[in-house]
Amino acid sequence: MNEIDNTVIKLTEEYTSAMLKDYHSLHRIPELSFQEYETTEYIRKRLEEMDIQILDYGLETGVAGYLEGSGSGPCIGLRADIDGLPVSETKRETGEEGFVLSEHPGIMHACGHDTHMASLLGAARVLIRMREQINGSVKFLFQPAEEVSRGSTYMIDRGVLQNPKVDMLFGLHNAPSIPTGTVGVRKGPLMAAVINFEIRIRGTGGHGALPHTTRDPIVCAAAVIQSVQTIVSRSIDPFHPAVVSICSIQGGQGMTNVTPDTVTMKGTARAFHEEDMDQIRRRMDQIVTGTAEAYGCTAELDFPLDLGATGSEQLYDLALDAAGAVAEPVDPPASMAGEDFAFYQDTGIPTFFYFLGIRNEAKGCIYPLHSPRYLADPDCLPIGAGIYALSVFRGIDYIRSTKA
Ligand code: NI
Repeated sequence: MNEIDNTVIKLTEEYTSAMLKDYHSLHRIPELSFQEYETTEYIRKRLEEMDIQILDYGLETGVAGYLEGSGSGPCIGLRADIDGLPVSETKRETGEEGFVLSEHPGIMHACGHDTHMASLLGAARVLIRMREQINGSVKFLFQPAEEVSRGSTYMIDRGVLQNPKVDMLFGLHNAPSIPTGTVGVRKGPLMAAVINFEIRIRGTGGHGALPHTTRDPIVCAAAVIQSVQTIVSRSIDPFHPAVVSICSIQGGQGMTNVTPDTVTMKGTARAFHEEDMDQIRRRMDQIVTGTAEAYGCTAELDFPLDLGATGSEQLYDLALDAAGAVAEPVDPPASMAGEDFAFYQDTGIPTFFYFLGIRNEAKGCIYPLHSPRYLADPDCLPIGAGIYALSVFRGIDYIRSTKA
């Protein structure tokens, strides 16, 4: 345990009550993706109070803060997402002092992004006190709209990774699957790659009693639904996790005797290996196009979201070391959920993504992400702040040592 680690731990303890206040304040005011105005204002005010510079990238929601250390060196980015979900928080007594339920009807921080924000604000408080020890700079990225997987692209397109250039980026997500006091550090993919797809099958509608005069897109759609289930069972290595789910199907106007012209379907596919995602794309195209042809229909297939897996190997040792200084590192179960953090990873900068344990059975913090009863154990906050802050120091050391 070196001096930097000791100072970080001491300061995260000192700022625990400030982090709790931020967490409670932000939990009250959850906002939906790209509508995080109050949240943005709250973060901006806290950063300004700390004398953290706000960088202007023309962000409608979201904030980029900047802290220059005492010496010149690389710029380390720290990312927290800030949006809530359209979930109505269950009214209940949590027994947690100072905890207030969501005051925005029908919206809730059910994915715990409030814990990410409070941890990153805590890290900012710690790092500003340690400015003299930072040979480089820190960019604090409070990102909107993670839940719709579009916030990171929004930030990247507005240039948040430039001016100054971010050399390395860290992020975290709270994890109800692992206990408070642990941090999930995984070598390789932690969260799945995601393809969302839309299929449109066009036939020729007509009278349901005269099928020979139609080209029925509903029967064709049924064949497509059955066939895409063979992608995972027949075309993917059984030792590789993968999912293909059709979650929406629409065709017809509720009539018993009218065959429609078109059927549309929507769904999602997940896997961890890029070659599996390639295979899913290729097989979906073959099945949709080929089946449509066999049934005398035509088809279109679109991928409105194509997101890589989150998690990398390059910074594993560094991350394990940082996590071990403030918590117990564990190898967490991977998640089939996606994370738009992958778009930062795709730009080619070295990144690492942690899971922050929040499970605490005694406090009722046992519900999964997106549940209306979801609750984080606030004891995760100093650990989250510590992970963010130590990633800065470890990251700067890593870049210096690899350049030397
Ligand atoms: Ni989330």
